[in-house]
Amino acid sequence: MKEMSVVFSPLWITLCCVVTVLTSERGADGVFKERIAESLPTPESDNSGKLHSPVKYNMRKSLDLDEDGCYLEFGNKECLLECSFNATAKTILVIHGWTMSGMFESWMKQLVRALQVREPEANVIVVDWLAFAQQLYPDAVNLTKQVGKNIATMLDWLKEEEQLPLNQVHMIGYSLGAHVAGYAGSFVNGTVGRITGLDPAGPMFEGVDSDRRLSPDDADFVDVLHTYTREALGVSIGIQQPIGDIDIYPNGGDVQPGCRLSDVLSTAAAGNFMDVMKCEHERAVHLFVDSLLNKDHLSFAYQCTGPERFNKGICLSCRKNRCNNLGYGAKRTRKRRNSKMYLKTRADMPFGGYHYQMKMHVFNRKQADNADPTFSVKLYGAHSDTKDLSVDVPDQIGLNMTNTFLIFTEEDIGELLKIRLLWEGITESWMSVWKKMKSTFWSWSTSTTEPVLKVRRIRVKNGETQKKFTFCAEDPSSTEISPGKELWFVKCRDGWEVKPRKRLYL
Ligand SMILES: *[C@@H]1O[C@H](CO)[C@@H](O)[C@H](O)[C@H]1NC(C)=O
Ligand SMILES: *[C@@H]1O[C@H](CO)[C@@H](O)[C@H](O)[C@H]1NC(C)=O
Ligand SMILES: *[C@@H]1O[C@H](CO)[C@@H](O)[C@H](O)[C@H]1NC(C)=O
Ligand SMILES: *[C@@H]1O[C@H](CO)[C@@H](O)[C@H](O)[C@H]1NC(C)=O
Repeated sequence: MKEMSVVFSPLWITLCCVVTVLTSERGADGVFKERIAESLPTPESDNSGKLHSPVKYNMRKSLDLDEDGCYLEFGNKECLLECSFNATAKTILVIHGWTMSGMFESWMKQLVRALQVREPEANVIVVDWLAFAQQLYPDAVNLTKQVGKNIATMLDWLKEEEQLPLNQVHMIGYSLGAHVAGYAGSFVNGTVGRITGLDPAGPMFEGVDSDRRLSPDDADFVDVLHTYTREALGVSIGIQQPIGDIDIYPNGGDVQPGCRLSDVLSTAAAGNFMDVMKCEHERAVHLFVDSLLNKDHLSFAYQCTGPERFNKGICLSCRKNRCNNLGYGAKRTRKRRNSKMYLKTRADMPFGGYHYQMKMHVFNRKQADNADPTFSVKLYGAHSDTKDLSVDVPDQIGLNMTNTFLIFTEEDIGELLKIRLLWEGITESWMSVWKKMKSTFWSWSTSTTEPVLKVRRIRVKNGETQKKFTFCAEDPSSTEISPGKELWFVKCRDGWEVKPRKRLYL
């Protein structure tokens, strides 16, 4: 079919649809490359469909990306036919970011393929602005507005000619490409359905007016993933501030699992710091690809005012749209601007894991006021068990109060059946306190010097299912825990919780 159309294509196809120049390199990484044949086109104001437009619209029809794509051109209806553009289907534009090499990076191929697998009918178009994107960063930034305008002009034309419904248009922009999408959305005559910003670029966009960067006004729904917002010398590669209707910061948006220098070095032949940056910045793309391919394993992100509170386990609620799916399956919510959302992820695909909020009251009935316990928990599920997971609290475990913390597991353990709480070995700080106490309270015998705390029950909320359970000490008569000791908790039997406190504790 492909060959037939090439053989029988009239001259105009060759002229206007420019049979692709994609020279696929069958190298180790199979990078989807295109040589930029012409020198940098001069920025042009008219978008009348010159062959040398700095922006090209490469429509991907075949799943095989080594196959030629087909180029859409402003003003040429024949191209639409040739590319079998289907105006009633979804139209997805993928917009790359700044590039030093002038080539597509390997993620482009992965993202395009995932889109085609998920939406076989959709018009998947790669917006190629490589000629501009390989300029010095400040120049490339300056050109984003022009590229955005070019895209808007193209969309306006498709709307006029083909009655393309703009609400069926989804632009996905990575890094600088996210701001290009923002400009496109703001210049188009109407409102596009959705813009997804994949770690939108930070330098020269952080803190600027909303009309000079991606913002919630640029589409009906703007969802943003922030994966590399760690600051160095006052700037971060990915923008830190929330700029969409929902802004998701996986793993706090700064350090991504699997991206440490040591992780990257083991997988890349010539790994260096650039690979770490690429790993963290590009993680947004891979999280999105994951959401396209693994739709049965959606990751939830939870609204929270900041990463510290999220890591304390405070924010695992889904009430009133406080949680959403990460990636393609994100639900459009009532305009709720700049809502920051968090989740933890695994280090590779599928990235999703399981979040548990745990609350436990730690009683100090034996004057162990200086005890600074470090706890770990191990979860036993119907399918499998976790390893020991340390209980991270920002300061220290509060005594005579309820502590809330977050536990993240990579594997699906199934229904949670049992919890083991372990007080890890005595810490140095405790040893010194203990010595001091021994000298102060000379009357203490050695058998009473060990700190003893009590935990009667643990309340658990599963973020993914939103279900809550209370786990009670397996042996209600023994709820004491001390360094190196463990306590077991099982789901409370009916009635346990209503027993008068006195009988259980004293
Ligand atoms: C165009 O897309 C619509 C919606 O996805 C689909 O129902 C229709 O069959 C498509 N038309 C062609 C010619 O593929
Ligand atoms: C962007 O380009 C225009 C036209 O070339 C120039 O006048 C302007 O100063 C540039 N802006 C920046 C921020 O470089
Ligand atoms: C915008 O679109 C509307 C209809 O969709 C059309 O009537 C109007 O002329 C367009 N405006 C411009 C400036 O193209
Ligand atoms: C906790 O409460 C007990 C009495 O119930 C008291 O003796 C102890 O000093 C309290 N500890 C702290 C840290 O408040």
